Amino acid sequence: MTTQTPTSNPAGAGSLGGVSGLTPPAGIPEGPPSGLPDVASLAKLAGEFFSALPTTALPGGATNGLPLGLSHLGGPSQLATPPQPSEPVLALGARAPALAPVAQTQTVVPEKAVDSAGVSSRSPAQGVPEAYAASLPSIDLPQAPVHAPATPPSSPYYFLGEKSAYPVAGEVDVPREDRVTARSFGLPGEDELRALLGGVPPTAATPTSESAKKDQWFYFTDLTRGHEKSEHGRAPASQAGARPPFDVNAVRRDFPILQERLSGKSGGKQLVWFDNAATTHKPQAVIDRLAYFYAHENSNIHRAAHEVAARATDAYEGARDKVKRFIGASSTEEIIFVRGATEAINLVAKTWGAQNVGEGDEIIVSNLEHHANIVPWQQLAAAKGAKLRVIPVDDTGQILLDEYRKLLGDKTKIVAVTQVSNALGTVTPIKDIVALAHSVGAKALVDGAQSVSHMRVNVQQLDADFFVFSGHKIFGPTGIGVVYGKRDILENMPPWQGGGNMIADVTFERTIYQPPPNRFEAGTGNIADAVGLGAALDYVDRIGIENIGSYEHDLLAYATQGLLTIPGIRLIGTAAEKASVASFVLKGFTTQEVGEALNREGIAVRTGHHCAQPILRRFGVEQTVRPSLAFYNTCEEVDRMVKVVYQLATSRR
Ligand code: ALA
Repeated sequence: MTTQTPTSNPAGAGSLGGVSGLTPPAGIPEGPPSGLPDVASLAKLAGEFFSALPTTALPGGATNGLPLGLSHLGGPSQLATPPQPSEPVLALGARAPALAPVAQTQTVVPEKAVDSAGVSSRSPAQGVPEAYAASLPSIDLPQAPVHAPATPPSSPYYFLGEKSAYPVAGEVDVPREDRVTARSFGLPGEDELRALLGGVPPTAATPTSESAKKDQWFYFTDLTRGHEKSEHGRAPASQAGARPPFDVNAVRRDFPILQERLSGKSGGKQLVWFDNAATTHKPQAVIDRLAYFYAHENSNIHRAAHEVAARATDAYEGARDKVKRFIGASSTEEIIFVRGATEAINLVAKTWGAQNVGEGDEIIVSNLEHHANIVPWQQLAAAKGAKLRVIPVDDTGQILLDEYRKLLGDKTKIVAVTQVSNALGTVTPIKDIVALAHSVGAKALVDGAQSVSHMRVNVQQLDADFFVFSGHKIFGPTGIGVVYGKRDILENMPPWQGGGNMIADVTFERTIYQPPPNRFEAGTGNIADAVGLGAALDYVDRIGIENIGSYEHDLLAYATQGLLTIPGIRLIGTAAEKASVASFVLKGFTTQEVGEALNREGIAVRTGHHCAQPILRRFGVEQTVRPSLAFYNTCEEVDRMVKVVYQLATSRR
């Protein structure tokens, strides 16, 4: 297998290294069509074009018309003046009082004082966005057949014969200009991000030695360790420090909605989707898989002898197997399909919780949790006379493990904590959290709603008793999600809902239940969307979750850097380990105003409390603007966002 390595491009957009070095694939004439300049002349022209500052006049009076990006900060003369430190927007005193809890639950809230997170200004210039390189005038090379039609199924059951529609490295010779890596175009790496978020200026010589790496537990490196031994049976595509090519432009073509231009207020602008923490978009492979199901396999499952029922059952159970492999479970019996992460947590609270939590017992959650990982436990605690205890976070939004240790005791029955905060993006030390829960005999539930699409998850390595996630946040359909539970725990859990599918035998006197997972899947489930979720996981697997994680990491660093150049911005959530999310507030503007300004430019972000009011109040705010990134986003999109917010921020000065 050959993998093309992108040409190093230290000169940034002014260099045409990525284009002039191309060798046309076999069958393509070396020279340009007659009447066009030759490649050398094109390279020279383009070199002049791109080495000019944005909007600088070129010979003949033209401007290069480059998108401004971080150049909103001005040309060299303005860059000589460092940006002023942003002021904190909301002081502690402005913190809204917590609302009285509705459920009659004893809740122990964190007592740690709240300080505003420090935000310091950064040097504005940061390499050249890879998107600009992608926008270089290209010679007419054939594009990779991204949507190659699926191979006709060789099995009567579609999923058995599925073929990737995504070009696997080595299968398709993707033109080099189409191979962009965030890293190779000078984006900051993990050390820079850590420095940025920690308020420490990045040093020129960032620690990349093995000894330095040892002390790090960045999600995209640490969580891949040991994966070689997982039953996925292949080595991770990305080792610590290695940055394989990431073909963002090819990926984007897989997502029809990303080609969309918006009507209405944005006046025909191309959609920029920065609302990935709320939901992700669906690749064509998932859309096609759903259509295929309804066209060829639609049936109820498990109950009929006919062929179409067998197809549907195969497809549904095949999806369960894909989930099992994706999260590293030991058997398909440990995978229960539900509507989403919310229903998943409710299932655990209302089955395992009802059975195992009693009066005086304690349930631990963290201050970071989504309402879905608070309210079901609050309801359980209220019903049982148990107590909800809350792990505090530090001023960056990271869990305080020492405070957590103090909460643990023999009354602790379950610890339910997120792996990634939906509001702040904090990646929590979840493995330690699970291990500490086990040290006192408690169970641990990991909310993976915001993590599975960004990092490798292996439930056996985490030793999670329960792990939950939603399909729609990992490029799958809405209305489908997963509870993973350790087999011995599920076997001893009572059912939740009663009805068809979950029974072995029913008389009017008694019912015998099926073993897991059917025991927890009463009624006709969301068959088609489970199959669609399987297709989404296949899609992610084909790209490689480690590739996704490292690309997104660099993109988040780039976005963080850009946002910090804006006067009056305050990031909410500055932990060194973060994924996807760059929540912020802007001095002098409501979050709604910022969201509307972005929407006018076609940029979709969520504004509001993100169903995580306690953690926002911890930082003295009720709402934030929350751009949240996925692997199909680009630096150019980040630039568009930064430019809009920058213009808004300076409009009233
Ligand atoms: N939980 C989703 C979010 O964070 C809806 O936006």
